[in-house]
Amino acid sequence: MTEEVVQGRDVTIRFDGKRCIHSRACVLGHPEVYVPNVKGAWIHPDAASAEVVMHTALSCPSGAIRVSHNDGSATSDTPPMVNTVRVRENGPLAVEAELLIRDEPQTTPRATLCRCGQSANKPFCDGAHASAGFTATGEPSAREFAPLMVRNGPLNVQPLKDGPLLVTGNLEVVSGTGRTTDKVTRTFLCRCGQSRTKPYCDGSHKAAGFLAD
Ligand code: SF4
Ligand code: FES
Repeated sequence: MTEEVVQGRDVTIRFDGKRCIHSRACVLGHPEVYVPNVKGAWIHPDAASAEVVMHTALSCPSGAIRVSHNDGSATSDTPPMVNTVRVRENGPLAVEAELLIRDEPQTTPRATLCRCGQSANKPFCDGAHASAGFTATGEPSAREFAPLMVRNGPLNVQPLKDGPLLVTGNLEVVSGTGRTTDKVTRTFLCRCGQSRTKPYCDGSHKAAGFLAD
């Protein structure tokens, strides 16, 4: 599916259906802007204030929704002040950072990355964890960590062939309930779904015969 672009009076909404993980924060939070289950136009940028519409993009974990003010004064594509990866219960890794994937700068700082191994759109989540019955805690144990000297800056995600995501850059690992469980500048995150030390890789991908580019 190509990106949908809907220009309103004050803001423009972009929607990339391939990135959407159906967390439904948009249709549940602002059904006047994102009208569920209708034929035809379902995105209505003028149905709420520019601030509210901007908030819907900032709340979309996958980066599927992006919003910009038409006068150029604000965009949801601005990187955060703190790079984070949130471990979603039974679901993907939600990254917010000045994001690069395979050294390619990304248009949006938000992305949900597959950690069950089943997505057909790796390294992104495509919602396959639900039909696969993937179970994994969103509350990993905290590790010992030192404060980061810098909390933002470029974060590069390098999917390793048949193995984990090598993540390089300043990053705080955050549980589903918002606990910081680790602070790192380089780590290997499991994307095969088999590790016993999720969200980190423990080498289980080899015995599992995990295959991925
Ligand atoms: S991922 Fe974003 S676009 Fe998709 S349902 Fe959730 S909030 Fe809406
Ligand atoms: S990628 Fe899952 S254990 Fe290494």
